[in-house]
Amino acid sequence: MTLAIIGGTGLTQIENIVIQSRETLETPYGAPSAAYQIADWQGQKVIFLARHGAPHRIPPHKVNYRANVWGLKQLGASRIIGVAAVGGVSQDAAPARIVIPDQIIDYTYGREHTYFADDLEHVTHIDFTEPYHPETRAQIITAAAAIGLDAKIGGVYACTQGPRLETAAEIKRLIQDGATVVGMTGMPEAALTRELELPYANLSVVANWGAGLTPGEITMAEIERNLQTGMQNAIRLLEQIVLGAS
Ligand code: HPA
Repeated sequence: MTLAIIGGTGLTQIENIVIQSRETLETPYGAPSAAYQIADWQGQKVIFLARHGAPHRIPPHKVNYRANVWGLKQLGASRIIGVAAVGGVSQDAAPARIVIPDQIIDYTYGREHTYFADDLEHVTHIDFTEPYHPETRAQIITAAAAIGLDAKIGGVYACTQGPRLETAAEIKRLIQDGATVVGMTGMPEAALTRELELPYANLSVVANWGAGLTPGEITMAEIERNLQTGMQNAIRLLEQIVLGAS
């Protein structure tokens, strides 16, 4: 099994992996966000990609999701975990907590979101009832239990367009819609992996409470502080997943 990790805000690189090569690819959809790092982690091969580029420079609505996922397929990834910084919407999604969602609502628009855009003769309507690969999710959940991490299992990832954060009214609507967390990069990434039949699951790290849920503005300082703790836990969790796969 070759595990691929797509790192989001707060996870541009993983310090303790041993990079063996860097692959810069061109795809039929253009260039991926960064070079893919082919690395050894605890004796396992992993592929790491920084979703926003390294250094962080590509905003969520400009990420070339199609190229990123296509490149992972080309490199032989057999499983993908997408790590994402999110806002907490439900009461049990507090800052710094890790959430392993099992559903998605897509509020994005205008993104290149399918590989079936041009070849209309072969258009395929993928089943997306369960947007995340159950076994890959189970692997994350097992690893979280093994390290005693209090992750929230299950929940709805609401994907907004960004790059701005939401209004207080938008967060209220997301609560009514049943959202657990809100992020900007979960889609079309998840759907594209399904189109290419690559098992994919999401690991969300809560950076802040959604807009209007606490008094005052959401600051980058607050986001960065919570992400520091949250991403450390995310790395511990990923390492346990890799160990569990050996
Ligand atoms: N909303 C959307 N995306 C985010 C947030 C948020 O509050 N925090 C981190 N990513």
